[in-house]
Amino acid sequence: MNASSYDTHDLQARDSAHYLHPFTDTQALAGRGARIVVRADDIYVWDSEGQRLLDAMSGLWCVAVGYGRRRLADAAHRQMLQLPFYNSFFKTSVVPAIDLATRLAQLAPPGFDKVFFTNSGSEGNDTVIRMVRRYWDLQGQPGRDVIIARINGYHGSTMGGASLSGMDYMHAQGGLPIPGIVHIGQPYWYGSDRGLSPQAFGLQAARWLEHKILELGPERVAAFVAEPVQGAGGVIIPPETYWPEVQRIVDKYGILLVSDEVICGFGRLGRWFGCQHYGTRPDLITFAKAVTSGYLPLGGVLVGERVARTLVERGGEFEHGFTYSGHPTSCAVALENLAIMEEEDLPRHVREDAGPYLKQGFESLVDHPLVGHAQALGLVAGLALVADKSSGRFFDPGLAVGMLCRDFCFDSGLVMRAVGDRMIIAPPLIITRPQIDELIALIRRCLDSTLAEVKARGWLAG
Ligand SMILES: Cc1ncc(COP(=O)(O)O)c(C=O)c1O
Repeated sequence: MNASSYDTHDLQARDSAHYLHPFTDTQALAGRGARIVVRADDIYVWDSEGQRLLDAMSGLWCVAVGYGRRRLADAAHRQMLQLPFYNSFFKTSVVPAIDLATRLAQLAPPGFDKVFFTNSGSEGNDTVIRMVRRYWDLQGQPGRDVIIARINGYHGSTMGGASLSGMDYMHAQGGLPIPGIVHIGQPYWYGSDRGLSPQAFGLQAARWLEHKILELGPERVAAFVAEPVQGAGGVIIPPETYWPEVQRIVDKYGILLVSDEVICGFGRLGRWFGCQHYGTRPDLITFAKAVTSGYLPLGGVLVGERVARTLVERGGEFEHGFTYSGHPTSCAVALENLAIMEEEDLPRHVREDAGPYLKQGFESLVDHPLVGHAQALGLVAGLALVADKSSGRFFDPGLAVGMLCRDFCFDSGLVMRAVGDRMIIAPPLIITRPQIDELIALIRRCLDSTLAEVKARGWLAG
């Protein structure tokens, strides 16, 4: 179907009449009408009006191998004809889940030999909460049930995932967090008072974990859950000193470390897993998104030896699971997706080619009058829009300058996300150098448009 065969007004009307979107003000959306995305190829998507957009968010951090991969469609088709679905509950198993679990155990850091499958990252993190608490029960320490996460970390939208997430506005809806989950500050140096060097601040932020452990009593603390790089919180790349100090602290108190790699897993930071970039040794790894490049829903938890031994050898039945845990078609697509990633050596492409090239281009945006700070790692990047470049003063959040910039991006053919006044990207891992040039030029153009608008509205300092 080409663009002209879509009746955008009709689609928008039915969309607002019947479809409640995730994380959306339905009434506000109805006022302007949703953009209807109708097809995609490589790193581009097209809407029902025929506009092409460079998708610098990989869908929602997931389309690692890009759009239009016939091999993934064929893998799903083959598997659906062979065995579209069967469960793994009743002493049964399915070949694609066995093969995918085997493959993940090979790709994961040493010691991760077991996998629990879910349908999403949120379910993965709910699984983490239950596994962590079960582990300590089996260790004879049921009082160790408090899980520490971080303000502005994002771990999903189920009751457990949203509780781990450190967003007040999410907690305010639905009586969250659930008991036994507490939060510490995030390692966002540019968002701090910048009184310390980034290195010193990284150590300080890690030590907030130690302070919280001591405040609660180490005998009550079960685990620390964090993303290697905070994604949905605005691509917060921690100072290099942060993770080694966190590792020292969790080791010292014997608490479990959970690396939520729903974004950072599968090559995003230039290694198969984000923890390998930082050299941390987690006990559990949550994954989703890029494991199938988003072509089908699949998530899960990689379970390290320490937890696996206890759960398996002493745990008996683990009273947890989902109808679609180990869904054969999703697993078949994941296997094909991982095969593509390996054949195209995508983690290396990110680490040695696209990542450094993006870093150079993206961080050069700091010369723009609106940009206070710009940072990239692998293929994630974020910049902070500021009202006063010399002091680094932020805009009044009520002005929603990030949203203004995001709208200019969409209008200019670029999907870039705004988190407050941080503008963030996570393009498909297959992005090439010429496409990165195109991306940076588009971002610059959108920043210029935003600057002109902000000046016209009299919002700029000086
Ligand atoms: C780090 C992280 N964890 C968990 C989730 C939740 O995953 P899902 O939306 O698949 O439930 C997300 C989603 O963006 C995420 O970024």
